[in-house]
Amino acid sequence: MGTVYSTIRVEPESTGFGAAIRGLDISRPLPPGTLAEVKDAFARHSVVNFPDQPLTLEELEAFTLQIGPFGVDPYIKPMEGHPNVLELRREPDEKATNFGAGWHSDWSFQPEPPAATLLHGKVIPPVGGDTLYADCSRAYEALSDGFKAMLASLRAVHSAGRPYGENGVFARETEKRTMQIISSPEADKTHVHPLVRTHPVTGRKALFVSPTYTLAIEGLAPAESDAILGFLFKHIVRPEFVYRHRWRPDMLNMWDNRCTVHLAEGGYDGHLRLMHRTTVAGDTPY
Ligand code: SIN
Repeated sequence: MGTVYSTIRVEPESTGFGAAIRGLDISRPLPPGTLAEVKDAFARHSVVNFPDQPLTLEELEAFTLQIGPFGVDPYIKPMEGHPNVLELRREPDEKATNFGAGWHSDWSFQPEPPAATLLHGKVIPPVGGDTLYADCSRAYEALSDGFKAMLASLRAVHSAGRPYGENGVFARETEKRTMQIISSPEADKTHVHPLVRTHPVTGRKALFVSPTYTLAIEGLAPAESDAILGFLFKHIVRPEFVYRHRWRPDMLNMWDNRCTVHLAEGGYDGHLRLMHRTTVAGDTPY
């Protein structure tokens, strides 16, 4: 049976991962009890959506700040007058690969990657444009004890270089892109994090690697590192760990970067997709 809340209705996804939260208006400050229940549901379900929440940019910012302070969003020009909001916009005539099309945990190359990301659906295409989420806690828990023991002391090297470096994917692309990406030599800097991290709220362990931002495992030979990461990249996104999120206009979705990875699907060429995104600051992974 699901957890019973007194101020919100939480409808878990049948996959056992992700949930809808109803019965509240997030455009106004939440009473402390309601906010505590939202945070509890977020910790339990890792990806929570709030349907039917038409929000202005100011309301999105204010709701984000109730969850926690803003994170730092590098390499993408923010919205004019809203330095903490990114507009994820893809016009009907764009052919460039949609933003976020590889599995990743947001900005995992930062020393303190964001705890959460909030994405508000403004214009949702009639086909395609789903976001897929993989549960890295369940993926970790499904590993054998022997493999978990081997991973326990490993540290993974993260970098923004592949997408955002001077020779990265965005720097080399020739197709029109509406979003303004700022490629930079800074992106090739690396940062090391535990390969298995512990969630600071739930205490659950999760795999903390992704094919977009994780380059290698510290101290291993390239062939050893590639073999382990190659296995983990496939393991994390096994169908039983993945939740497909289907968007509706005015839906806000909030995900936990400490225990999930996600991928934005395309499939909507010829249609506008428009979303507004904020992040919530996180801690040093341990
Ligand atoms: C992202 O933030 O990675 C993009 C998610 C999406 O557009 O669905």
